[in-house]
Amino acid sequence: MLLHTLRLFCIAGSLHAISIPPGTGPYHVGYTQHVFNHTTYDDPTPAAVNGTGTFIVATIYYPTLQLPNTTSPYLDPINIDLFSASFDYPPDSLSHLTTTLQFQAPTLFNTSTSPTLIFSPGGGVPCVAYTAILSDLASHGYAVVAIDHPGEVPYLPTPYTDSGTYGWGYTYSFTAADIVEIYAYRVADIYALVSFLPSLAALYAAPFNLTHFGVFGHSVGGAAAAAILAAQESNASTTTPPLFRAGLNLDGGYDFPANSTYPSLGLRHGGPFVQLGGDEHGFNGTADPTWAPFGAAQTGWWRWLVVHGAQHLDFSDIPLWIDLLDLRNKTTTPQLGGIGGLRVMEITRVFVRALFGLVRGETEVVFEGRGPFPEVEFVEGGDGD
Ligand SMILES: *[C@@H]1O[C@H](CO)[C@@H](O)[C@H](O)[C@H]1NC(C)=O
Ligand SMILES: *[C@@H]1O[C@H](CO)[C@@H](O)[C@H](O)[C@H]1NC(C)=O
Ligand SMILES: *[C@@H]1O[C@H](CO)[C@@H](O)[C@H](O)[C@H]1NC(C)=O
Ligand SMILES: *[C@@H]1O[C@H](CO)[C@@H](O)[C@H](O)[C@H]1NC(C)=O
Ligand SMILES: *[C@@H]1O[C@H](CO)[C@@H](O)[C@H](O)[C@H]1NC(C)=O
Ligand SMILES: *[C@@H]1O[C@H](CO)[C@@H](O)[C@H](O)[C@H]1NC(C)=O
Ligand SMILES: *[C@@H]1O[C@H](CO)[C@@H](O)[C@H](O)[C@H]1NC(C)=O
Ligand SMILES: *[C@@H]1O[C@H](CO)[C@@H](O)[C@H](O)[C@H]1NC(C)=O
Ligand SMILES: *[C@@H]1O[C@H](CO)[C@@H](O)[C@H](O)[C@H]1NC(C)=O
Repeated sequence: MLLHTLRLFCIAGSLHAISIPPGTGPYHVGYTQHVFNHTTYDDPTPAAVNGTGTFIVATIYYPTLQLPNTTSPYLDPINIDLFSASFDYPPDSLSHLTTTLQFQAPTLFNTSTSPTLIFSPGGGVPCVAYTAILSDLASHGYAVVAIDHPGEVPYLPTPYTDSGTYGWGYTYSFTAADIVEIYAYRVADIYALVSFLPSLAALYAAPFNLTHFGVFGHSVGGAAAAAILAAQESNASTTTPPLFRAGLNLDGGYDFPANSTYPSLGLRHGGPFVQLGGDEHGFNGTADPTWAPFGAAQTGWWRWLVVHGAQHLDFSDIPLWIDLLDLRNKTTTPQLGGIGGLRVMEITRVFVRALFGLVRGETEVVFEGRGPFPEVEFVEGGDGD
């Protein structure tokens, strides 16, 4: 009881809030969530009942003109405790982090002239850990839909309830079999989400663009994005316009499927594709042997860029948490390079925006050479025909 009282006192009295950097675009950002019933067979996660998953959770970020007048916590209290205990963060340090995102603020448009963007996170990482990247896109006019798969992440709050779903822990070691199944259901979750959006748009008069999509992700989610575009190749000779017009892979290897032909599939009918990775994916694929064969198969517009000083988790908000809280080198968070949270956020935001801007007809020059960033190296690419 004493501890409980002390903790409440600390939250009310002495902690100061640190807001993550707001989006760089002209709009403020609203968000909402939906639970979709969706069956996943061969679901390896602890949340599956007899190996069958039953739902997915979508978090939607979108532009709004409404001015934020308050902040909200970045992470829920259970994830704060689980993450802090896993990687030696001072208890409650993560509760300092806030955002200015506005729950269910009015939407800006009645129809969106920007493509709808679908995001799939890294394995075991909740989508909330990408808020800085996703909300930046919304501030530039995009609706972004991020998909969480219950049971894969340590805790997924169920929207509009006080409960949630526990899953694998933050330090769980995924088996090779888990990863193949995760990859397969990520691809299936993206298709399921896209099939649910028209009825959601109709029900809530939500202004999703239902003809133009972009897809991106981190790690296994980035590989899933490539798989979505690769699947469109089979339709290349039909007159059906492709649903997905661009894709981006943040630091994901292409060895997830038990399917050795996949890394060699070209994506030319899926529109532009970018792979943006850290040092492990940077040296002509010698560190990751899947990136070079994937690149060699591309005949459309594509770019392979490496961010020197970045490691795998630098393509999430996690290094930003660390630097905003002054915890650099003071936790046991794995897979971080020396680039720094604010810097890698800025770089990732610029390249992700530039890629999807191509679908809106924007001309982007950052893909040539290093763009404005000395840490970024152009490895390979092509302009297509
Ligand atoms: C989703 O599943 C839950 C639990 O099985 C059920 O109660 C609910 O009616 C379902 N919703 C829809 C829209 O089918
Ligand atoms: C799970 O499988 C067991 C054993 O086959 C069965 O008794 C149980 O009803 C199943 N549960 C559900 C929710 O299907
Ligand atoms: C903040 O803005 C919302 C939406 O306009 C409004 O409902 C709420 O009353 C405002 N709160 C304060 C403290 O001004
Ligand atoms: C959308 O907004 C525009 C102008 O803001 C208006 O002309 C148009 O009728 C609206 N469309 C719908 C479906 O409400
Ligand atoms: C959907 O997005 C594309 C690309 O930005 C745009 O050309 C199209 O007009 C948008 N659709 C609507 C209904 O605004
Ligand atoms: C291929 O086109 C058909 C209709 O022409 C469509 O139903 C199907 O979803 C498309 N497949 C992919 C992977 O885009
Ligand atoms: C795996 O290979 C098969 C046949 O070679 C192909 O049809 C399928 O699309 C591939 N799967 C992925 C995810 O690319
Ligand atoms: C990649 O390989 C090419 C030739 O195979 C070589 O010229 C280039 O320097 C290599 N780039 C890196 C970053 O190692
Ligand atoms: C963190 O550790 C690295 C590697 O030892 C070091 O280069 C860096 O200066 C340290 N940063 C801080 C803020 O302590």
